[in-house]
Amino acid sequence: MRFCFVAHSYTPVAPVTHVSPIRGRFAVFSPPDRAQKAAWDHEVRPAREDVGMRHDSADGRAAVRKFFTERAARWDTRFPDDGPAYAAAVAKVGLRPGDTVLDAGCGTGRALPELRSRVGASGTVLGADLTPAMLDEVARAGRQPAATALLLADVARLPLRDGCLDAVFGAGLISHLPGPGSGLSELARVVRPQGRLALFHPLGRAALAARQGRRITPQDIRAEPRLRPLLAATGWRMLSYVDEDERYLVLAEREAV
Ligand SMILES: C[S@@+](CC[C@H](N)C(=O)[O-])C[C@H]1O[C@@H](n2cnc3c(N)ncnc32)[C@H](O)[C@@H]1O
Repeated sequence: MRFCFVAHSYTPVAPVTHVSPIRGRFAVFSPPDRAQKAAWDHEVRPAREDVGMRHDSADGRAAVRKFFTERAARWDTRFPDDGPAYAAAVAKVGLRPGDTVLDAGCGTGRALPELRSRVGASGTVLGADLTPAMLDEVARAGRQPAATALLLADVARLPLRDGCLDAVFGAGLISHLPGPGSGLSELARVVRPQGRLALFHPLGRAALAARQGRRITPQDIRAEPRLRPLLAATGWRMLSYVDEDERYLVLAEREAV
């Protein structure tokens, strides 16, 4: 059995089942050492003109929290019909019963029930998010039975031990990462060799840009020519890339270390 080490689980408005019921698989985490933090803080980040906001600083993280706190209560009602798209994307991850999976940037937990159904009662589902108000909505939406543990955490600085996950599912996440390189490296750190990463959005890049009243540009980190080498540089091998109006889904495998 592998062990995940969790520092801070999150107890939202209505308590979720967390930490203790997971048969002792969680324990105290040591925060990243200074050298690793310095590497995170000083990473040179690519231009990100149409990939959302940056938060490679406390101010940046606060901006992300503010943005999503203002939207948390309305999040699910804004996108009520996305359920089947999430289910279809989760089905592609290749999860097996008993697996341990992280929903990175889980928001209101829209993927959590499907992740739970894929890993079964013997599996472990973690949801991590930077914004407390989004995690509160997991409970309000009645999704807490699906969540084994909710973590109030930056996915670029996860309180999890190396290689303790079988997979990471990140929906609508990559554009918010504090420098996609550092975020993807951190996700690679916590996933075992041959484990999976899914980067998903229920809209493709062009459709999302149109909804937001902007154009996609070659600088978009989600574009295949940019994302493929970035994944390779951060410990991932891209397995597939789909960018169509109704789905953006990239699957990658953790390279052997
Ligand atoms: C576009 S929303 C998507 C939420 C959810 N995955 C969904 O598909 O509905 C992005 C979420 O990522 C969270 N987030 C952004 N940056 C993060 C980070 N570095 N660490 C953890 N969560 C983050 C935000 O708080 C927000 O809840």
